[in-house]
Amino acid sequence: MNIAIFASGRGSNFQAILSAIDAGLLSARVTVLISNRSDAAALDIARTRKIQTSHLSQKMFPSEEALVEAMLNVLSQQRAELLVLAGYMKKIPLQVVRRYRNRIVNIHPALLPSFGGAGMYGHFVHEAVIASGMKVSGATVHLVDEEYDRGPIVMQKTVEIIQEDTPDLLAAKVLKIEHEIYPLALKAFAEGKVKIEGRKAWITL
Ligand code: GRF
Repeated sequence: MNIAIFASGRGSNFQAILSAIDAGLLSARVTVLISNRSDAAALDIARTRKIQTSHLSQKMFPSEEALVEAMLNVLSQQRAELLVLAGYMKKIPLQVVRRYRNRIVNIHPALLPSFGGAGMYGHFVHEAVIASGMKVSGATVHLVDEEYDRGPIVMQKTVEIIQEDTPDLLAAKVLKIEHEIYPLALKAFAEGKVKIEGRKAWITL
């Protein structure tokens, strides 16, 4: 399975995916790393590994159509079969969502459908979770559709919240399980085990 990774930041999930591939746990190839930011640490990870990179920012194009065209070109040139968002801070354009329907996944640092949507990213998520008084949080791998954080849920794992947890401590706990479940969810895609029925997705045994 050819994977295109989309990342805007440090790329620790990208790294976890590469490690799973290296360890033989995930049978896949990252054919391109796409970033909207030229300073993303994820780009350095890709360059070190000699993985093709593509910096695609709206600022570089006269219109959204031009950006979309460039993105679709990169994806087809690199024969991407699954688009994997790993800390990508931009909305995937509608035409790309339509072209790759049910073949775009994201990881969110909370238990969707709670604590998702526009503005719910990074520390805002963990602050909101702690403020809510919830006793569990977690990570969610889901398919990407037209709405932020709304597509069918593929995999989730929980962590406990204790009284001493700060947003930073919770973020670290959640990130650790993100690195566990993202490669597992991708493995299910690579093995053709993800079944999607309407708003629901299941991993078959
Ligand atoms: C992760 O917490 C992920 O859930 C969210 O963005 C963060 C990306 O972190 N979508 P990293 O760049 O993979 O380290």
